Amino acid sequence: MAQIFHPSINSISRLSIVGAVLAVLGFSGALYAVNLSYGHRVYLPITQPVQFSHKHHVGDDGIDCRYCHTSVEKTNFAGMPSTHTCMSCHTQIWPDSPEIVPIRESYVSGKPIAWNRVHDMPDFVYFNHALHVKKGVGCETCHGRVDQQPLAQKVHHMTMSWCLDCHRAPEKFLRPRNAIFKMGYKPSEPQDVIGKRLVKEYKIQHPRQLTDCYTCHH
Ligand code: HEC
Ligand code: HEC
Ligand code: HEC
Ligand code: HEC
Ligand code: HEC
Repeated sequence: MAQIFHPSINSISRLSIVGAVLAVLGFSGALYAVNLSYGHRVYLPITQPVQFSHKHHVGDDGIDCRYCHTSVEKTNFAGMPSTHTCMSCHTQIWPDSPEIVPIRESYVSGKPIAWNRVHDMPDFVYFNHALHVKKGVGCETCHGRVDQQPLAQKVHHMTMSWCLDCHRAPEKFLRPRNAIFKMGYKPSEPQDVIGKRLVKEYKIQHPRQLTDCYTCHH
């Protein structure tokens, strides 16, 4: 019987099956990656009622985090600035700019600006800013170079494994207290030397306790 297909067709179809399998795997891999970052909205700026820029206010103007996030050292919640805080400058700086209009309106009406949340832990997780800030974890370690962000973004997926990576070995991340709010911090000695010293100085609990489920879920 005459061959209907040329013998090489066989190897071509085998190749294309392998190709198809690889493509499917690659595609679901890509989907998984997209889902990981999209599901946790990493590096996705969020639309806000006012185009507030940390790059301008922190990076260019050098305003301290605590000027606006006033409770970050005292409570679990970092705190969000009131319209009054914005107007302490913007009654003078660019008071007539169209970008400032929603702030002026909020100031007159007394209705606070409804900022959309960038980070939002599920309710079954306990998180506390003051405890971290007091024990040598810098804003930058969790929030990245905020001073370079035109709009605040999440820079870590902040899943349980991310929290645990540090709770298992906090010495890799601890900084001196005077560098907590600093952006672009570079340790002046090797991190393992500083880290070990600070674990003792700050009396950091053993990783066994820090990774206990009850620490974050209670
Ligand atoms: C002049 C006021 C001001 C200063 C100073 C400031 N912020 Fe903010 N911050 C805001 C406002 C307003 C928002 C809400 C808008 C947004 O999310 O972009 C915000 C949002 C954030 C968010 C996201 C909050 C969320 O919804 O999850 C983080 C994180 C943050 N700031 C960190 C910092 C850090 C770190 C510093 C200091 C390096 C800092 N901010 C300094 C006003 C300020
Ligand atoms: C300590 C003074 C100060 C405070 C407080 C302040 N701003 Fe500003 N803001 C400035 C200055 C200075 C500029 C000029 C922009 C620049 O630095 O390039 C500015 C510019 C802006 C602009 C124009 C767009 C931009 O970023 O260049 C917006 C919008 C704005 N601010 C919103 C806010 C909001 C909202 C708050 C309160 C959460 C706030 N500002 C608090 C000083 C301040
Ligand atoms: C150990 C990691 C970590 C450190 C350090 C940290 N943050 Fe956060 N931050 C978070 C998490 C997680 C959330 C989300 C909390 C939630 O949804 O309940 C958050 C939320 C915020 C918010 C939104 C308001 C709130 O409290 O939910 C602001 C503003 C903020 N952080 C500012 C700061 C500033 C300023 C610093 C440094 C002084 C800082 N953060 C240090 C992890 C951290
Ligand atoms: C970069 C390091 C780092 C990251 C990331 C981090 N933590 Fe922590 N966490 C610490 C340190 C250091 C302490 C202080 C431990 C101590 O006081 O002994 C701490 C303490 C805590 C405490 C209080 C424990 C206690 O018993 O006093 C809770 C709750 C907590 N972290 C939850 C979280 C959660 C939830 C996340 C993730 C969203 C997170 N942490 C991410 C370093 C980190
Ligand atoms: C350092 C803080 C921390 C510790 C310790 C911790 N968790 Fe979590 N856990 C989290 C955070 C944060 C989330 C939410 C993650 C997210 O939003 O994706 C979470 C989510 C979960 C979830 C929901 C499913 C998921 O994976 O998102 C379960 C179940 C859970 N944790 C169980 C545990 C158990 C069991 C332990 C002890 C072996 C434990 N956790 C210890 C921080 C912690």
